[in-house]
Amino acid sequence: MSCPLRFPPGFLWGAATSAYQVEGAAREGGRTPSIWDTFSHTPGKVAGGDTGDVAVDHFHRRHEDLELMAALGLGAYRFSVSWPRVQPTGRGPAVQRGLDFYRRLVDGLLARGIRPVLTLYHWDLPQELEADIHGGSASGGGWPHRDTAQRFADYAAIVAEALGDRVEWWTTLNEPWCSAFLGYGSGVHAPGRSDPVAALRAAHHLNLAHGLAAQALRAALPARGQVMISLNPAAVRARSDAPEDLEAQRRIDALATRIFTGPLLRGAYPADLLADTAHLTDWSFVRDGDLTVIKHPLDALGINYYTPTVVSAGTDNAPPPRHDGHGASMHSPWPGADRVAFHQPPGDRTAMGWSVDPTGLYDLLMRMHREAPGLPLYITENGAAYEDRPDAEGAVHDPERIAYLHAHLAAAHRALAEGADLRGYFLWSLMDNFEWAYGYGKRFGAVHVDFTTQARTPKASAHWYANVARTNELPA
Ligand code: NOJ
Repeated sequence: MSCPLRFPPGFLWGAATSAYQVEGAAREGGRTPSIWDTFSHTPGKVAGGDTGDVAVDHFHRRHEDLELMAALGLGAYRFSVSWPRVQPTGRGPAVQRGLDFYRRLVDGLLARGIRPVLTLYHWDLPQELEADIHGGSASGGGWPHRDTAQRFADYAAIVAEALGDRVEWWTTLNEPWCSAFLGYGSGVHAPGRSDPVAALRAAHHLNLAHGLAAQALRAALPARGQVMISLNPAAVRARSDAPEDLEAQRRIDALATRIFTGPLLRGAYPADLLADTAHLTDWSFVRDGDLTVIKHPLDALGINYYTPTVVSAGTDNAPPPRHDGHGASMHSPWPGADRVAFHQPPGDRTAMGWSVDPTGLYDLLMRMHREAPGLPLYITENGAAYEDRPDAEGAVHDPERIAYLHAHLAAAHRALAEGADLRGYFLWSLMDNFEWAYGYGKRFGAVHVDFTTQARTPKASAHWYANVARTNELPA
């Protein structure tokens, strides 16, 4: 008979959201459009023409959502600040009304004993910075443009000055891979550009933005301030041990994971990545001193994990994968990896079509444990979309989500037992929300949201998770 799995004392049980996915109030309080407002209002970019204009109206339902979190017994809440709500043009002074919203949110969390974990960037770049070509490349502004990194550091300083007295945990970027390669490579995310070199430039400038922001946070925060980043490293496997399949795995691993962990943890881009992309760029956008800035010591590393990636050698121009990406595109998010084919692993899938495979989470945790010894790890996102519907009594039964969470928490526990310094877990997501290019069609929440009435109903998984958090153990 198996026993419940106990987590270490103090293990942090949280849930996560992001500003554009939940807040709504897109034109209130001086907020200006982000690249996601522009993108979602562009016909054909988001399923059903959905936008984040209203989202789940969290901006107006802050109090109700705080009560929901308290009822679930969450130990932590991971949310993001909307850059254009705080600094509408991406430069210059802050808008007090924008900061006030987050101050009230944080105070509400602290009053309920919930640790705020603040993410500075979850993909909503002020549109003005994307359109800005002053001193930028001919292809425009945004992340391929170096100055955006400095703008981000200034914004980080503003938020840290305003909230540093009450927020201890700071995340610079969420999943920079998506910002760079889905935003500028495949174009399925905002701003919807498809230029492999722009994607590589964006990746570097996101790394630089992280480093500059980390410095700004250190300068502005009290000594107890903790600085981290949330990556979505790929759990990439070769379909076979054939050398050409292992080569495909190596290439994708470089573009998905080591392009971030190389500079962040070791202060260098991997030599094989530079060689693989040498026909596209000489990487001269990496300037002297950048890598020292990027290697700024982290207090913890956040890992977001949903599904593994399986690759083999492919033919020229193999169709681009959807990966953990969103929507379909004619363009690949993998610069220089045309000869890689992507495969759907066998087994159960979620409503996203992503295979359920907790071993990928275990593998990633053990890898990061090996590659960054001594660095505390957090799972800053993990969860699944299913087609949840309220029954006649209004209850939402989501046994598949419970099974998904159970299996992934068991994998996390196994990594812990084998030495990984895992400190906490954040379920994605607290509640159903705007799932990027899929709009409101995919529900990741532990709490069901009726997108017409905005009524919140905790699903069975929310009750199940609350019990895990309360007991600090995973039932057998
Ligand atoms: C990762 C992203 O950070 C989050 O915004 C998104 O909703 C989930 N993955 C699910 O796709």
